[in-house]
Amino acid sequence: MRMSIIFTPFFPGKQNTLFLVFCTFLFSTWLAGQHVLIPIETSQNALVLQVDKDNHLGIIYFGRKLGPGNDYGTIPRQYRQEENNAGIYNSAYTPSGSWSLVEPAIRITHGDGNTSLDLQYISHQTSKQDENVSVTTVLLKDPVYAVEVTLNYKVYAAENVMEQWTVIVNKEKKPITLNKYASSNLYFIADDYYLTHYHGTWAREMKPEETLLTAGIKVLDSKLGTRANLFQPPTFMLSFDKPSTEDEGKVLFGTLGWSGNFQIDLEMDSYHNLRLIAGINPHASEYLLKPNQEFKTPSFITTYTEHGKGEASRNLHNWARKYRLLDGEGSRLTLLNNWEATYFDFDENKLAGLFKDGKKLGVDMFLLDDGWFGNKYPRNSDRAGLGDWQENVNKLPHGIGYLVKEAKDAGLKFGIWLEPEMVNPKSELYEKHRDWVIRQPERPEYYFRNQLVLDLSNPEVQNFVYGILDTLFIKNPDLAFIKWDCNAVTFNANSAYLKRTGQLQTQLYVDYVKGLYKVLEKIRAKYPKVPMMLCSGGGGRVDYEALKYFTEFWPSDDTDPLERIFIQWESSYFFPAIATCNHITDWSSLPLKFRTDVAMMGKMGYDIVVSKLSEKDLQFSQQAVVNYRSISDVVWHGDLYRLVNPWEKPFASLMCVNENKSRAVVFSYLTGNRYMIPTVSQTPVRLKGLDPKKKYSIKEINLYPGTQSTLGADMVLSGEYLMTIGFNPDVNARRSSVIVEVVEVK
Ligand code: GLA
Repeated sequence: MRMSIIFTPFFPGKQNTLFLVFCTFLFSTWLAGQHVLIPIETSQNALVLQVDKDNHLGIIYFGRKLGPGNDYGTIPRQYRQEENNAGIYNSAYTPSGSWSLVEPAIRITHGDGNTSLDLQYISHQTSKQDENVSVTTVLLKDPVYAVEVTLNYKVYAAENVMEQWTVIVNKEKKPITLNKYASSNLYFIADDYYLTHYHGTWAREMKPEETLLTAGIKVLDSKLGTRANLFQPPTFMLSFDKPSTEDEGKVLFGTLGWSGNFQIDLEMDSYHNLRLIAGINPHASEYLLKPNQEFKTPSFITTYTEHGKGEASRNLHNWARKYRLLDGEGSRLTLLNNWEATYFDFDENKLAGLFKDGKKLGVDMFLLDDGWFGNKYPRNSDRAGLGDWQENVNKLPHGIGYLVKEAKDAGLKFGIWLEPEMVNPKSELYEKHRDWVIRQPERPEYYFRNQLVLDLSNPEVQNFVYGILDTLFIKNPDLAFIKWDCNAVTFNANSAYLKRTGQLQTQLYVDYVKGLYKVLEKIRAKYPKVPMMLCSGGGGRVDYEALKYFTEFWPSDDTDPLERIFIQWESSYFFPAIATCNHITDWSSLPLKFRTDVAMMGKMGYDIVVSKLSEKDLQFSQQAVVNYRSISDVVWHGDLYRLVNPWEKPFASLMCVNENKSRAVVFSYLTGNRYMIPTVSQTPVRLKGLDPKKKYSIKEINLYPGTQSTLGADMVLSGEYLMTIGFNPDVNARRSSVIVEVVEVK
């Protein structure tokens, strides 16, 4: 690791408060007028920080990077925005209780009860981790109280992604209380701001809404605790000047890497500039920091482009695969899940039959879902047994080990469902360890899917949850996959453990998530590679911190392919196809080919009764698994381009292109099958991301047995042609989904 210190003035190691105050004063005076400039640049963009005459750190520029010879320092002169009624709007980390009267990024209560904070610039440095990645840190201190704040800006230059977090250190003699402690505070200057944010609920995730921001504060937040993004994810797009399209417009994507309550404030100031503050939700979350303790906030991840939403999403995908998602550049297992085939009604023999079905289908793995555990309270419905992770002796008399072996003999890997953070009140776990459950002892319990949440702030509970997985892996070293579910929100947020240990109850929301990460960290230290799916009865839980530990996620329980096209379309802006689990189920009566083609645009799996498939459906599915295997490299690792938007047209079209532009796959789906619109794709679909100079063959794949492609054979067209004129996939009511392979011809 090469370290280049840009600017770090000497500061004594041993400080007492007075000395600190004195030095800071001297230093501030010296600095005044220095106007330290801190440009933080990616390959295309720049965030520029500057220290003002009062030693406060502000943001003076965010946007396209300027070439050499341009002085960012002169930018403020071009804006005559010097009215100071509310303090400094453009603060890079707005403190509360002193000179600023706008929404703060940080609010604290000092050991002596005082609630004021000022943050002044002390030093900054940039360290380069490699040619692409560097971290700029800026140290800020309060001149009166011994509180230090370090702002961190980690830049992934080629991907144009910036990750920001903040570290707050208490150097006071007494504990301080953090009342608000955001990860990031940004500032934008544009004509207008168009926010696209998402809402929904179970089976209706990722409904987008675009709004012109007006004066006041728009808040995106969650207070649900676990599975925090059930109704709203911490994920949004912000277009500047005018709404962006797929290929045009200035747009920032933002997402918080935190699997708990979040708050994103978008405040328009009196200059019509926009302040953005993102982090953990301060709601009921005061956090105590003892002397010399530090608090590291989660990461807020952004990417910015001036070329529309498509490029922003590719930036995030490239970054996620390379730097964040577990095994992001690896491969994934196709699978047969038994949830919708059996629900809770299965036994060893039935499962053995399903293994054979999986083999017949040709998938890599069988995934045993909910219902395999609990003896005193057997898990035969979602009303009982959760928490009792012992095989049910009636259903599985020979245990999981036997199933793993049977699956292996059938030629399949074996994976298993767990919901380790939860408990049914009807369980032995609840009977034995009521103090492990998040509940208010004096109040009635509230259930979400008949269950309660375990208190992961408690180290004993962390060990218990770790032990569930560890025991399974120790007993079954061939276990190949975990589906980690999380179906309840946190009612009655109260921890017996925090009470017993004399800690603040308001730390529960945060300590829960920290506890969860501790468990995941420990699991990954021992089992670094086993693929795990992050699931939450829908899109209730996916974020870029959790994805450090998971290889994939479940975007929605809604597997109706028509609905799914929209959910996958929106979710694809933020998360890459390799991480997005799409299963073919019987939720819909739409043709099996349509359901399969929709699942193929991500990580494909099955959740159907194979034995009930007609001969042709089985033949089609067997071939589909083979076809998927042949295109999966392009889908998992290629660049995604959205071609026709189903919110605007009656069909959706999108494509993935491999890195050297020699292969692509184009998916097209009919979404608006209306009377008298027999042929919806009357115009060609223009492709993107190809090499204009290359020649490509166009071939329809994944055809249903007995049907012929209407595209004609031997179509060879240039990249230029395909990107200028396009080709017509001929999507219509009789051909409601079409997959085309585009291969370079030499
Ligand atoms: C959640 C998941 C489903 C299934 C059930 C089991 O709803 O999303 O896929 O695993 O739990 O109870």
